[in-house]
Amino acid sequence: MKRIAILGSTGSIGRSTLSVVESYPDRFQVATLAAGNNAELAFEQAVRWKPRVVSLADEAAAEALQAKLRQAGLGETEIEVVHGAAGTVRVATHPEVDFVVSAIVGVSGLEATYEAVRAGKTVGLANKECLVAAGELITAEARRQGKPLLPIDSEHNAIHQCLRGGRMEEVEHIWLTASGGPFLRTPKSEFASITVQQALNHPTWKMGKRITVDSATLMNKGFEVIEACRLFQVPPERVQVVVHPQSTIHSLVEFVDGSILAQISVTDMRLPILYALTYPERIPSDLRFSVMDLRHLDFCPPDMAKFPCLRLAYEAAATGGAKTIALNAADEVAVAAFLEEQIGFGEIPRIIEEVMSATPAGHLESIQKVLTLDTEARLLAREMVKQFRRRGSPIGAIS
Ligand SMILES: NC(=O)c1ccc[n+]([C@@H]2O[C@H](COP(=O)([O-])OP(=O)(O)OC[C@H]3O[C@@H](n4cnc5c(N)ncnc54)[C@H](OP(=O)(O)O)[C@@H]3O)[C@@H](O)[C@H]2O)c1
Repeated sequence: MKRIAILGSTGSIGRSTLSVVESYPDRFQVATLAAGNNAELAFEQAVRWKPRVVSLADEAAAEALQAKLRQAGLGETEIEVVHGAAGTVRVATHPEVDFVVSAIVGVSGLEATYEAVRAGKTVGLANKECLVAAGELITAEARRQGKPLLPIDSEHNAIHQCLRGGRMEEVEHIWLTASGGPFLRTPKSEFASITVQQALNHPTWKMGKRITVDSATLMNKGFEVIEACRLFQVPPERVQVVVHPQSTIHSLVEFVDGSILAQISVTDMRLPILYALTYPERIPSDLRFSVMDLRHLDFCPPDMAKFPCLRLAYEAAATGGAKTIALNAADEVAVAAFLEEQIGFGEIPRIIEEVMSATPAGHLESIQKVLTLDTEARLLAREMVKQFRRRGSPIGAIS
């Protein structure tokens, strides 16, 4: 029986993980759960799964959850309720946990993910921002612990699967597929009028809001380039992006002899989650893909001029360290401002570019240093958001 901690249990990946656990009651058990502010769903999950510990982001919400659990006959001896960053770390490092699913959105999941690796847990990583901001530290610690970091992000999960067909030294290129997002065919001249609702309408995947907007700007693919460099220890020039609107091939690995291996499956995150939870085994599932659906597959190169976020991510990947922290922090702030309709779609990359160029390059020696740089980059990004709002400029001019 594998005992699982889910960081971000109320989110899209968290709920998919619980659905996988539900399908395999003889293999998996929920040990601990961490969520943000959705106390209602956290309560339902706690009653259903009876974890040892539940953490919420906020103290007041945690107290309210505890009171409701008591009313439901579940006292502190049954379920401990904790809160804040320390609470998430407790959930991730609990002695009864074997496997941690890291699926909190953004840098809020960083410390707990790092501590889980440090505590010798096997980690399934959905939270790509962890690897973008602090990938060097996290992967070095996983190597020290001799534990695998198992990618849940579908592209990296696909690459992980393809890499079982050869050795790392035999890899020529990693090819990340990108759906292209909802604006693949939208002319750049129309970007100024893109609404939040249009940006949240992803053509192939149903995900949380941040990653959906990141997919529309192609920043998500940029993050994935950095994630691939760090997970698989390859330089950015060996990670290529190809637009593949059907999202049928989840990614590919090209080997030195010219062979290319691709991974194909349904567009359902339960499959990469199941793969990570059972690795190195494969077990039967009902997540089937019909080979007949392979009739129509399109590919084209990404348009870096139209989607400058991808170019910015390649630039940050080449420098690493503080630049990738700035990239992620500025994107998180800019996307939140876009979702609140404070800035336009086209201003997202402009804010990120300015924050990146104002951030000096630097190496990272600790998670605390990463978090400090992250806070500084966020402050700068918020300042830029204010400036754009003051200017009230017509939005959308992506350079
Ligand atoms: N969804 C996908 O298909 C997909 C695919 C690949 C990778 N990913 C990555 O997986 C991660 C999660 O994505 P998602 O789509 O599942 O996002 P989501 O639906 O927005 O869920 C985010 C989760 O994080 C929790 N959270 C937010 N702030 C927190 C905090 N301060 N402390 C503790 N928990 C906090 C949220 O809790 P509340 O809801 O309770 O506030 C929620 O459970 C992201 O890094 C994303 O890039 C997602």
